[in-house]
Amino acid sequence: MSLHRDRRDRAGRTWRSPGVLGLLAAAALLGALGAPLAGAAAPDVPKIVDATYVGADTCKGCHEDQFKKLDATLHSRVLGQRGRTALQGHVCESCHGPGSKHLEDQANPANIIRFSKTSVQSTAQRDAVCLQCHQRGKRMFWQGSAHEGVNSCTTCHSVKSPQSAAGQLKAKDQLSLCRTCHATAVAQQWNWSHMPIREGKLQCSSCHNVHGTVTEKLIVDNSINENCYRCHLDKRGPFLWEHAPVRESCLNCHKAHGSNNIRLLRIREPRLCQQCHNENRHPSTAFPGGAGGTGFGDRRILGRSCALGHSNIHGSNHPSGFAFTR
Ligand code: HEC
Ligand code: HEC
Ligand code: HEC
Ligand code: HEC
Ligand code: HEC
Ligand code: HEC
Ligand code: HEC
Ligand code: HEC
Ligand code: HEC
Repeated sequence: MSLHRDRRDRAGRTWRSPGVLGLLAAAALLGALGAPLAGAAAPDVPKIVDATYVGADTCKGCHEDQFKKLDATLHSRVLGQRGRTALQGHVCESCHGPGSKHLEDQANPANIIRFSKTSVQSTAQRDAVCLQCHQRGKRMFWQGSAHEGVNSCTTCHSVKSPQSAAGQLKAKDQLSLCRTCHATAVAQQWNWSHMPIREGKLQCSSCHNVHGTVTEKLIVDNSINENCYRCHLDKRGPFLWEHAPVRESCLNCHKAHGSNNIRLLRIREPRLCQQCHNENRHPSTAFPGGAGGTGFGDRRILGRSCALGHSNIHGSNHPSGFAFTR
């Protein structure tokens, strides 16, 4: 647990604007963390003492309904004779453990690995069952992630009765799955401007790996900006004239899920820009007047939208694009 906190706190400091020192620090951090993570003891898979494998045909005698359910899923095709490892060869017992003791006494929950309320195995132990085959890939950083400890694999997945078209989820899609716990993030889909998830153009998992990441907030890429660049390549640059806050973090100006301002902006222009830029230098009122007023800025800030004039606000490659106007 302390390891996890440590990583998140430190990552939080270096992550938005890594710079060279930040990257070095991050590399050192990864080096330091890599060792204990890689060396961490494999999660303890529950052992059923003295039990031996009896084979799926034996289970079928009493649990035919479970066969039917499993048949409809990918697991039925990858376990059994076609299994690539010895464990995969055991079908039912790949997940539920060797069954001989269960045949002797079915009422004793300790005789079989259960995933229901009657289970005597801890959540971590049940997750360890799945991780035997699924530790690699997206689950590489499950240990210590924001979801480990608060969720288990079977909070989100159903092996026997999946509801989703992909990923064997317990709900029909990611929006309905995540909504149960992250009401705010999902509600932002109904903001006026929003990431088109409910239109089906992307998913929560386009930006998050719910199984754990090295970055904060379960972001799939190495940083938030890297994530945004993946789809908004034109914002990556390199630019002749860079706008510092864009390089630092897209979230300086945008919200990630939804906003009631145009283009997912955090707040409206001109206030957005004036958080950092001095209003006196470039008045944003329609009729500046007064001693310092030139009356010169007004035409260009029509609609109070600075980005109308500074149209290449994310950076410019034009020789005279220093002010992002071209
Ligand atoms: C002789 C019939 C019989 C055979 C064979 C059998 N079971 Fe069972 N199994 C039962 C009964 C009865 C229960 C319900 C026990 C209870 O209510 O506590 C049960 C319960 C279970 C449960 C727990 C269900 C829950 O509510 O969590 C699992 C898992 C399970 N069996 C898996 C298997 C597997 C895997 C095999 C093959 C190795 C197998 N069973 C073979 C009769 C059988
Ligand atoms: C890939 C892992 C996996 C395999 C393979 C598997 N099970 Fe299960 N089993 C589970 C999980 C997880 C649950 C909890 C319910 C769910 O996720 O759908 C479960 C639930 C059950 C239950 C409890 C009843 C219920 O619906 O909650 C029984 C009985 C059972 N399995 C028997 C079997 C039998 C018999 C086989 C072989 C045909 C089998 N299981 C294969 C993981 C597995
Ligand atoms: C004995 C090995 C094994 C175990 C144990 C196992 N799985 Fe799998 N599972 C596989 C294989 C093999 C696949 C095929 C895809 C792949 O290679 O990842 C798969 C696929 C899946 C998929 C993807 C299905 C799809 O339609 O894309 C999900 C989700 C999944 N498993 C969840 C679980 C969960 C949850 C558990 C624990 C209850 C579990 N698995 C236990 C071997 C296993
Ligand atoms: C918070 C919900 C949640 C939890 C907890 C969770 N998953 Fe998933 N899982 C998902 C979603 C959503 C997807 C589909 C999107 C994706 O692939 O990231 C998925 C996809 C998968 C897949 C198929 C895609 C792939 O990686 O090949 C597997 C296998 C899988 N999960 C296994 C697991 C295992 C094992 C655990 C427990 C260690 C687990 N999941 C815990 C939500 C969850
Ligand atoms: C059963 C409840 C539950 C479900 C379902 C669930 N989560 Fe979570 N999630 C949590 C909890 C609890 C945390 C930890 C909150 C914290 O640390 O502040 C968390 C943390 C997160 C975080 C990191 C937040 C942070 O501050 O670091 C993200 C991102 C996230 N979840 C995304 C998702 C997505 C996407 C889905 C759907 C695929 C999902 N979650 C499904 C309970 C859930
Ligand atoms: C376009 C990328 C993207 C998509 C799609 C996305 N998120 Fe996020 N999410 C982010 C970013 C970036 C953050 C970090 C926000 C911050 O630090 O202010 C975040 C933060 C979160 C958090 C942490 C709490 C918070 O608001 O800071 C949760 C929970 C979360 N997202 C859930 C979801 C769920 C659920 C979905 C699907 C409905 C989803 N996200 C879709 C990028 C995305
Ligand atoms: C998986 C791809 C993907 C990722 C990752 C992604 N976006 Fe998007 N983004 C889209 C799509 C698709 C649209 C809708 C484009 C359209 O409808 O023309 C969009 C639209 C937008 C819009 C315009 C919204 C509007 O109202 O017109 C903004 C701003 C934006 N994204 C910012 C971001 C930021 C910031 C990030 C990183 C946190 C990000 N995007 C990550 C795919 C992505
Ligand atoms: C300094 C503030 C600021 C930052 C930082 C910023 N943006 Fe923007 N972005 C804007 C403004 C203002 C608009 C609206 C322009 C307009 O009026 O159409 C916009 C529009 C967009 C749009 C939609 C229109 C288009 O040009 O495609 C996308 C997509 C987008 N931004 C992505 C990003 C990404 C990705 C990042 C991080 C690399 C980022 N933005 C960082 C201010 C910013
Ligand atoms: C988070 C702070 C921040 C925000 C928000 C922001 N900027 Fe900037 N902007 C900067 C910084 C820092 C520079 C670089 C100043 C330097 O190099 O002296 C800069 C440079 C500029 C320049 C280049 C000319 C100059 O003054 O160096 C223009 C033009 C500009 N910004 C316009 C905008 C507009 C328009 C918006 C709103 C859409 C905006 N900025 C929002 C921080 C910000």
